[in-house]
Amino acid sequence: MLKILFAPLQGYTTGIYRKAHAEIFGGVDAYYAPFLRIENGKPREKDLRDLDASTIPQIIANGVDEFKSLANALITKGYTEIDFNMGCPFPMQVNRHRGAGLLSDKQAVQVIMDEIKKLSSAANGTAPVKFSVKMRLGQNSPDEAFALLPILNETPLAHITIHPRLGKQQYKGAIDFNAFERFYNECTHPLVYNGDITSVSQICEMERRYPKLTGVMIGRGLLAQPSLAAEYKGLCDTNCAASSQCFLGKILQMHDIIFDYACKTYQGDSQILSHIQIFWEYLEPNIPKKIFKRIKKAGKLNEYNEAIAQLK
Ligand SMILES: Cc1cc2nc3c(=O)[nH]c(=O)nc-3n(C[C@H](O)[C@H](O)[C@H](O)COP(=O)(O)O)c2cc1C
Repeated sequence: MLKILFAPLQGYTTGIYRKAHAEIFGGVDAYYAPFLRIENGKPREKDLRDLDASTIPQIIANGVDEFKSLANALITKGYTEIDFNMGCPFPMQVNRHRGAGLLSDKQAVQVIMDEIKKLSSAANGTAPVKFSVKMRLGQNSPDEAFALLPILNETPLAHITIHPRLGKQQYKGAIDFNAFERFYNECTHPLVYNGDITSVSQICEMERRYPKLTGVMIGRGLLAQPSLAAEYKGLCDTNCAASSQCFLGKILQMHDIIFDYACKTYQGDSQILSHIQIFWEYLEPNIPKKIFKRIKKAGKLNEYNEAIAQLK
């Protein structure tokens, strides 16, 4: 059976979202936090605060100095597993030599991998830290990933997660399965596939086609159908398929946890609404259209609560 990893999505898979998902739906082997980055010369406090012990943190860096600063902040907090982002396609990051913007710089990646080697061995009396990498095939060409692969194969990594698109494609356009297959054959680390998985049958197909695969990482598919991992694991009865009463009941339980948190944490209708309306965004295909529209349009908490009551 493949491991199911919940992909990080900045703004969506927040600490409270991950906690509520684990409690209500489950079936996920590991939750990854959206990337921690340097802001004003130091690790961004807001991102550090949103981490919890049951999540694997992720960092994004433009070179070894940022990498060290972020990794050390997490190690100091007691984390022993860290994911390194070499896939983010957002121009804000790519143009600053981060995420997919790093893939074409073999030298910078080599220096970061040397640092991973150091931190992965129990040097200096500190506990060894496990690292994984989440990456794309390249920013502009799959040649970038294949040029890096010998360096990555030489680095002690727990696994590599590959999203077989280019950074310039962002999250759309065809997935390059030919390049994925080559990467799958040449990568010596446990490999996790990521990209466009939305059903149990797709997960089973990946398992059948790629027997060496360790797991799949799923983002938007799980946001749209939070029962997906539990369904694959056989933890959810078949009545809990998307759109069913059982599914909606669980969605509402998950919602209530996140809504309560938003009400306690933020002030004023518009702040609270902006944090809770995002919960519904990817769920659109799985809830009645009219109610979805009312939820999205609500500008006041009482309008929002009336829309939610219609789902009950
Ligand atoms: C809005 C948004 C935010 C994202 N934030 C992150 C992030 O912080 N770190 C990361 O590694 N990937 C991030 N991703 C990429 C996802 O983790 C995932 O790789 C991508 O959505 C493809 O997988 P999927 O088709 O299963 O959703 C983000 C994607 C989106 C759309």
